[in-house]
Amino acid sequence: MLDKLLFLAQKPALWQRSCEPFWDDEHISKGMLEAHLNPDWDAASRRHSYIDCSVKWLASIIPEGSKILDLGCGPGLYTKRFSDAGYDVTGMDYSRRSIAYAKEHDTKAKYIYQNYLEMDYAEEFDAITLIYCDYAALIPDERKTLLSKIHLALKPNGLFIFDVFTEKTFYGKKDRTSWSYHENGGFWSDKPHLCLEAEYYFENNTVKVDKTIVITENDLREYLIWDTVYTKQTLLDEVAPFGFQIHGIYDDACGSPFTGAADTLCLVLRKG
Ligand SMILES: C[S@@+](CC[C@H](N)C(=O)[O-])C[C@H]1O[C@@H](n2cnc3c(N)ncnc32)[C@H](O)[C@@H]1O
Repeated sequence: MLDKLLFLAQKPALWQRSCEPFWDDEHISKGMLEAHLNPDWDAASRRHSYIDCSVKWLASIIPEGSKILDLGCGPGLYTKRFSDAGYDVTGMDYSRRSIAYAKEHDTKAKYIYQNYLEMDYAEEFDAITLIYCDYAALIPDERKTLLSKIHLALKPNGLFIFDVFTEKTFYGKKDRTSWSYHENGGFWSDKPHLCLEAEYYFENNTVKVDKTIVITENDLREYLIWDTVYTKQTLLDEVAPFGFQIHGIYDDACGSPFTGAADTLCLVLRKG
């Protein structure tokens, strides 16, 4: 166990993936669902007043009656609002717990338990959304796969709307480590556990990984969660090869005009 721990305690290589399920873990997904449903907390989902504002703006740019696919829909906070507004909605997520909650609370939308990197649609949707900066949690090859699949899944002139954090978010941040003991269990495990946590920065502070090692009496698990931050130009350069036209660029997913000073950036792309 000590050998494994010493091996895991090192800074990971850029874009290294861990094997443990995170969003779909039986225990972690319980705490995650609670976080999604907390109306005042920007955690798994944004606070619900923001979601109301976001859906209002999205509804102003997505034509009435459109067929919408929401990727990483979680428990359906956006999709339920879209289906109540009369859209034909599909939500996709690979947390079983979130999809079960969404189905139970919204009988109008269709909910699919699936990894969106493996979706397979052709000219099916008028609009695809990926909200709360999930795009940037993917590693570069996954982002390319997803952009190609989204382009294929959209009808001609269809919209892809997504947000990311900007470089401002990581300015001045440095690698750091910490640990904590959870005698009665906690977010990562229902058993007593020790958490070794680290954040490491790469590529001139434009890429971060949050690394957590969870140690219980009989087990050792490693979680790596990546995040990439963008400027308007780095994001436009990244999407350029995929055949979209730029339909709009905003400071956030509520449609605030672009200033370049915000800590998020929201891009609306149109399939040409
Ligand atoms: C930060 S949460 C945001 C949820 C939702 N968009 C919201 O803002 O309320 C990310 C969601 O994406 C889902 N997710 C992450 N990677 C995914 C993938 N490859 N395929 C499907 N769902 C994924 C997670 O299960 C989680 O529900």
